[in-house]
Amino acid sequence: MPCGYCSETAKKVLFMMLKILGELALVGAIASVFIVAAQGRAAERAAEEAAGREYMWKLNELTSNLLNRKTIASWNYESNITEHNEQIQMQVFLEVAEEQKEYWKETMTYLWREFEDEDLKRMFKKYSQLGTAALPEDLNQRLIQAVNNMQATYAKATICDFKERSKCDLHVEPDVTNVFAQSQDAEELKYTWVEWHKAAGAPSRGNFTEYVQMNNEAAKLNGYDTAAEWWLSEYEQDDSEDQFLALWQQVKPLYQQIHAYVRRHLRLKYGDSVVPAKGPIPAHLLGNIWAQTWGGVEKFTRPYPDKPDVDITAALISQNYTALKMFKTAEEFFTSLNLSGMPDLFWERSIIEKPDDGRDMVCHASAWDFYDGEDFRQALFISYL
Ligand SMILES: *[C@@H]1O[C@H](CO)[C@@H](O)[C@H](O)[C@H]1NC(C)=O
Ligand SMILES: *[C@@H]1O[C@H](CO)[C@@H](O)[C@H](O)[C@H]1NC(C)=O
Ligand SMILES: *[C@@H]1O[C@H](CO)[C@@H](O)[C@H](O)[C@H]1NC(C)=O
Ligand SMILES: *[C@@H]1O[C@H](CO)[C@@H](O)[C@H](O)[C@H]1NC(C)=O
Repeated sequence: MPCGYCSETAKKVLFMMLKILGELALVGAIASVFIVAAQGRAAERAAEEAAGREYMWKLNELTSNLLNRKTIASWNYESNITEHNEQIQMQVFLEVAEEQKEYWKETMTYLWREFEDEDLKRMFKKYSQLGTAALPEDLNQRLIQAVNNMQATYAKATICDFKERSKCDLHVEPDVTNVFAQSQDAEELKYTWVEWHKAAGAPSRGNFTEYVQMNNEAAKLNGYDTAAEWWLSEYEQDDSEDQFLALWQQVKPLYQQIHAYVRRHLRLKYGDSVVPAKGPIPAHLLGNIWAQTWGGVEKFTRPYPDKPDVDITAALISQNYTALKMFKTAEEFFTSLNLSGMPDLFWERSIIEKPDDGRDMVCHASAWDFYDGEDFRQALFISYL
């Protein structure tokens, strides 16, 4: 006979099993919904990232065009400082800033922080910073104007010669630079340093203040407290200041020895009243208007003065070196390392000797990328005395 109890039990067991299975099935069903949803979300994300990548390539190209226009306008102005060229540069800069603002709005619609591709994320991060283009047009105009005023002041400033006070057409390049490279007359050096700073530095004071204020404004619009914080962010390291400090600590003992050594030789040459035994070296005595490189004082600070001088100037002259030949020689070094030579446009468009057509131009050595992959130029005046 059938075991009623047994069958009851079996039924219960069966029921339980069905229930468990049912619950499992339900859990499974729910889980599969989630999996499908997650798969859907992953697919969506991948699609968003692909769209972001496509947008980024387009944006990069559009931005290259904008920067190309901007760089051409800058070059035309800096290599030929006239009011006309300045106006064009200002106009182009402001137009480009407006266009960058429009692109920026689109860039910010992408959820790039969720992208997987680190390179792509980094590009988005860079493009999500608008820089000085974030300024309202009137403030941006003030910033550009302040920079242009300082550049023009610097390029056009002239001073009078120390020995020939009525000769008043000494420019920073090559005249002032040459005084610092050649003169060993402490009075002449001091006079030239002071006059040059009066002519080029003092008139820039108001514009420099303006420049700092506008940059701090731009920093705030880019999400930073100050321009300093913004500029440091370019290193993409949270501890960049600590890193610089650590590097400085590393070179400091050597620097202090060189500093003390040079100071002693300058004191022997110019006297105790001109060069103190302790403390900083007066900047005008280091052979360079910016006290930036000390090669100018090498002549009388060399550790072994009896050793023959390696004077390549005489060799350059006897071998009829020209500015172009020096550039070509420098290029040979790089091509000897199997790097490619400079493109033709470089040789066509660079300015390597000071033009003698009387135009004012920014004479600081500079290297230019025109963002089109083929136009690269240098503005750098080579001369050997
Ligand atoms: C400098 O710019 C002016 C326009 O302001 C132009 O007429 C002149 O040809 C330019 N000079 C050179 C050497 O390019
Ligand atoms: C900026 O420089 C220009 C001349 O280059 C000058 O006329 C102007 O007054 C300066 N601005 C300030 C705020 O000092
Ligand atoms: C340099 O130029 C002079 C005169 O132009 C010439 O006599 C001499 O041979 C040249 N020297 C070299 C190394 O080319
Ligand atoms: C130099 O570069 C070219 C490609 O630009 C390469 O094919 C060649 O192997 C390189 N030569 C050496 C010696 O590395």
